[in-house]
Amino acid sequence: MKALVISRLGDPDVLEVRSVPDPVPTPEQALIQVEAGGINFADIMTAQGGYPGTPAPPLVAGREFCGTRVGDGQRMMGYAQWGAFAERAAASPQLLWPVPKAWSAEEGAAFPVNYFTAYFAYWKAGLLEPTSGKTSPRVVIHAVAGGVGTAAVQIGKLLDIEMYGTSSSEEKLARVKELGLQHGINYKQRDYEEAIKDLTHGEGVDAVFEMLGGEHTAKSVRCLCDFGRVIVYGAATGQAAHLDARILYIKGASVHGLWLTYLSAKRELMNQAWKQLSAWTADGHLRPVIGNVFPLEKAPEAYRLLLERKNFGKVVLKLT
Ligand SMILES: NC(=O)c1ccc[n+]([C@@H]2O[C@H](COP(=O)([O-])OP(=O)(O)OC[C@H]3O[C@@H](n4cnc5c(N)ncnc54)[C@H](OP(=O)(O)O)[C@@H]3O)[C@@H](O)[C@H]2O)c1
Repeated sequence: MKALVISRLGDPDVLEVRSVPDPVPTPEQALIQVEAGGINFADIMTAQGGYPGTPAPPLVAGREFCGTRVGDGQRMMGYAQWGAFAERAAASPQLLWPVPKAWSAEEGAAFPVNYFTAYFAYWKAGLLEPTSGKTSPRVVIHAVAGGVGTAAVQIGKLLDIEMYGTSSSEEKLARVKELGLQHGINYKQRDYEEAIKDLTHGEGVDAVFEMLGGEHTAKSVRCLCDFGRVIVYGAATGQAAHLDARILYIKGASVHGLWLTYLSAKRELMNQAWKQLSAWTADGHLRPVIGNVFPLEKAPEAYRLLLERKNFGKVVLKLT
């Protein structure tokens, strides 16, 4: 079968479309005829060698896909750690979900990582229950115009969250505002910590979804109100978080980790999340935002969009 192979560790040029043997599913696994795969920042890190738990190259790239289940022809979207960007993928039934009616394969491939991650970010922030108070909880969403970011905006709107999103581009911010983002902050033009202070009249926010690392973890803590939470779930800067835990004492703040790879093994948690996500989806409230679609052969170009911060929403690879 045709597959996207990480030939050696490095930048997107190491990706090659090759002919490889079909996967052999274990008795518990299902085999999916893949139509499309969703690109994640983790795919870039995997190719560069910075993603824990992935085998050494050569290996088939890709963590999420959409296609039809061999045997019953059911349209499914699925999550894996690698092996998704291929004509066929083997997957655990626990990590396969039926594609909502009327969704394209591209939309199905853009769902699992972004929506489960965004859902769990609200869960970790303690904000999943709709609020009965007078004021809406405030949340900062970094990379708000990306895959996880746009999913977090759609979910935040349902939870009545006052959202503050950061991005490098006015154009991207204008597009996310159409999804329901109330406050866009262009960090190239304005320091986001200062902007949050102004926009919240010095009060700060209840939570920050932080996927940048480096200086941004402490900076995000400084954006919090009393007892606020920073949810750390990435390090797009490539730097480990710089955080002196003493800054947490001052306002009873906390930092919570979130890693879908780990949570995806927690069956009950995933089922609970899917119950809510599928209900919202059935009601037409959630729909993946697709920025670009590329054929498998153009994967290096597609990966580079994320690296160069040029993507909006999800970038998808088409296999058929
Ligand atoms: N822990 C988990 O389980 C988990 C799951 C999914 C994703 N993540 C993390 O969440 C983040 C977003 O992932 P995604 O797949 O949805 O990607 P994405 O947000 O669609 O794309 C990355 C975006 O990050 C922003 N960015 C800010 N600083 C950057 C930098 N130094 N280099 C590159 N991009 C930078 C850019 O948007 P602007 O130009 O608009 O700032 C860029 O478009 C990543 O850090 C990823 O590792 C973690």
